[in-house]
Order: sequence, then structure tokens, then C-alpha cells
Amino acid sequence: MKKPVIVNELKKLSKRNMVSFHVPGHKSGKIFERYNLSNFHNIGKFDITEIPGADNLYAPEGMIKEAQERAKEFYGGDYTFFLINGTTCGVISMIMAATNPGDKIIVSRDCHKAIISGMILGGVMPIYIKPKICYELFLSMAITPKTIERAIKENPDAKAVVITYPNYYGVCSDIEKIAEIVHKYDKVLLVDEAHGAHLKLSENLPISALDAGADIVVHSTHKTLPSFTQSSMLHVKGKRIDIDKLKTMLSLTQSSSPSYLLMLSLDMAMTVATGEGKYLMEKLIDNIEDFRKEINKIEGLNIFSKEIKGKYGVKDIDITKITINMKEIGIDGIKLEEILRKKYNIQVEMADMYNILAVSSIANDRNDFNRFARALEGIYNDKRVPHKKSELPEFSFAIPKMEVLLREATYRKKKSIPFSKSSGKISGEYIIPYPPGIPLICPGEVISQEIIEYVQILKNIGINIIGTCDESINTINVIK
Ligand SMILES: Cc1ncc(COP(=O)(O)O)c(C=O)c1O
Repeated sequence: MKKPVIVNELKKLSKRNMVSFHVPGHKSGKIFERYNLSNFHNIGKFDITEIPGADNLYAPEGMIKEAQERAKEFYGGDYTFFLINGTTCGVISMIMAATNPGDKIIVSRDCHKAIISGMILGGVMPIYIKPKICYELFLSMAITPKTIERAIKENPDAKAVVITYPNYYGVCSDIEKIAEIVHKYDKVLLVDEAHGAHLKLSENLPISALDAGADIVVHSTHKTLPSFTQSSMLHVKGKRIDIDKLKTMLSLTQSSSPSYLLMLSLDMAMTVATGEGKYLMEKLIDNIEDFRKEINKIEGLNIFSKEIKGKYGVKDIDITKITINMKEIGIDGIKLEEILRKKYNIQVEMADMYNILAVSSIANDRNDFNRFARALEGIYNDKRVPHKKSELPEFSFAIPKMEVLLREATYRKKKSIPFSKSSGKISGEYIIPYPPGIPLICPGEVISQEIIEYVQILKNIGINIIGTCDESINTINVIK
């Protein structure tokens, strides 16, 4: 197995035992020794800055270049950039690299707020497209190639298409077809693959966005591979992207003091991925399949998987994301998350009224799945766990009229008014119910009576709604 490059070079540098009159202030972790914090001391040795021998993230020639090259080869792109400000800085940079202020981009409405930030900072105009919704699970599903082609035909001046692939629940749109359409109309395809850094590890996982033809792809390596929080990667393939402009945007959105701890962790993740990664992934997939069969035997519990392919525009599913639906038996996902955490010491990624989402990785072993299965059985058989069936009302999630551009709406003066009286006003805030995580309203859009009434229904049921300063949504900030 190949050795990690960055940590080895840093070990060599730390053995020089130099007296540091350099940042950072802990001086190679020395201060931690004084307080008997020996773990910190060792970490401190690797938390350096761009001293001679340590290469430079923004003009790499040494170990960072070598580590990035290895990642580039693994993912199959033409350029790979290590990111130390998370996928957030990556998606902001990709949007700003592919557009100029005032340009239009076609973007899936269920996008992460990092994409919205990119549109605000880049001053671009979003043309939102809606994913399909599965009302049974109340989850957002795929964006169809047809929806994208229609949006491009209606907006021939749009510069780029931005999609999230896979979505939070592992749902994958038909990205190969989407890439074909986007390129047929001479646009660029930007993919937020925050949840898909691991897809290259198995033929049994969905195709990776880069392999499918995307022009820029951003990975939250830290989410699904073993790297530290906030460490991510951006990959470019083909000639549609101006690399110098992209580098400028990355230098605008990233720290001028890049963390070597984050960089070495990206390199460690690549060492694992290119070493035992495929073997560990096959083991993980076996464990997930066994777990799924076991859980699906329990009446009323359901893990959705490949059978959803072909419905709601879904092309494929990343099964490492395990969505357990309990709508039929009426156990509230939020309650289930709490019991798993408090009684069984198991922490899942997310919970909503009908579902819990467990995100697994090659670091999970069979014992983890066995514990999870026993806990779910225990909760299922516990008569004290409250059961209450509730139906979420269907809603069109129609995209409201945008009166003011996102960027302008962010800067315009706002005033707080009763939400019940906000019909016809321009919102200064988001209203995003979870599930399904699709905004009902974004800043700059006109609030309708229909939205006000729907929010009231969701509040009565107890749905989690985010995006407003007043969490109770009795008031809302509208544009003056
Ligand atoms: C789809 C998606 N995109 C982007 C991000 C931002 O990623 P990061 O936290 O690495 O900045 C997230 C984080 O949750 C996400 O889920």
C-alpha cells in the first residue's frame, strides 16, 4: 500500500526539532506538553504553516502537489484541488468560476445553502427547477433530464446547470443523460457531490459525477471518507472551465493560512481509498445488505433501496445512506433518534417525522450494524414508545415569483411583520420545512396566502421549519 505523502513529509520536518519563531503560536505543540496534553503536542507538530519544505496549497510543487495528483488519478479528473474551507468554499468557487455577475444559472430547488451563498456572492440569477417528490416518504427525489432540458430551452442564455448528486438520502438523478443534455446546449454542469466522495470505491455504487461527464465536482471528503471535518476536494474534467478563473475564486474563498492537519487528512483518506478502500467498501455493502434484509423483516419498518429505481426519476441509489421509514407504524423519527442516542448510544445523521437517516462509511463494521439492528428491534418491541400516525399534506412546492434578486434581497433593509399578514410581501428570509428540505420561499420571493396556510398546517403537526430569525414563524422579515 502506498504511504501517505503529507504526513510523512511533516514527520521529517518535525524531527528537525527546530526552535520555532514562526506561527502558529503553540510552537510545534510545545505549549501543550507543559499542560500534559500529549495528544495535542503530537498534533501540534503537524499543525504548521508554509515554512520551507512544506509546499504551498496555492502554488503546489512538492508534497501537496503529489498528494493532489494521487487524488486526481483516483477520481479521474484533469485537476484536483484540496479544499480547507469545506465544500462550502468549493461550490461557491465553482459557481463564481462558471459565471459572471448578472448571469443566469439553472439550479435544483433542493440545493444546500452553500449554493445559495455562491449565487449571492456571485450575483447570479437562479432559475430554479423542482425535484420530484415522493409524498409517501415525504422526501425529495430526482431531477429529471426532461426538467433540465425544458429549463435550458426556456432560458437559452443560462450559463450553467447546478445539481446535487447524490442527494442527502442517496437518491441519484440520471446524471449521464443530464450531462449529455447540458453539453448539447453548450452549458457547463456543476455538481455538488458533497455526499459522494466514496462512489469510486465500488461498481455497486452509483456512477461518480466526474465519470458521468460533469465539468466541476465538489466532494465533502470529510463526510464519507476518513478525513477531518472541513476538508474537501474540487475536481475539474475537460476544457469548459477557465482554470485560472477558478484558482482566483478559490483564493478568494479560502484561508490564506491553509491547515496542514486538514491537508494531511485528505491525503490519509486517499491512502485508505487507494489502498484497502475497495475491499472495505465491499464489506460495508455486504453488511448493509444483511442489515437491510433484517430490518425490512420487521413489519412496518422499511429501508428504501434499489427498488425505488425508475420511480420519481431515480436512476440509482447510494445504499451507504440508510433511510429507515416508520410512517406505517407511526413512530416519530425525532423520538426514535432520541431513544437511539440516549438508550442505545447510537447517533444517526438526521431524523424527521417519518424517517431516520444513518450515514455509513468504510469505517463501520459488522458489530456496528448488529448493535443498530438490535436497538431498532428493541425500540420496535417496546410498548412504551409512543405511536401516532400522522399524514403530511401534499403541497405543490411551486416556485414563487422572484421580485428581487437573491443578492439584492440579502442587502435590502427589512422589517419584521406578523407572518399571517405577509401575503403579497417580498420575503427577506427562507422558509424551509424538513422534510422534504425544499424551500417554500427564498429571500426576494413573494409570499402567498397558500404558503402562509401551509406553514400553519406544518407547524400544527410539529414539522421542523428552518430559515427564519423568529423560529416560531409568528413574524417574518420582509423587504421594506
Ligand atoms: C449537499 C451539500 N452541499 C454542500 C455542503 C457543505 O459542505 P461543507 O460542510 O463541507 O462545507 C453540505 C453540508 O452538509 C451538503 O450537504
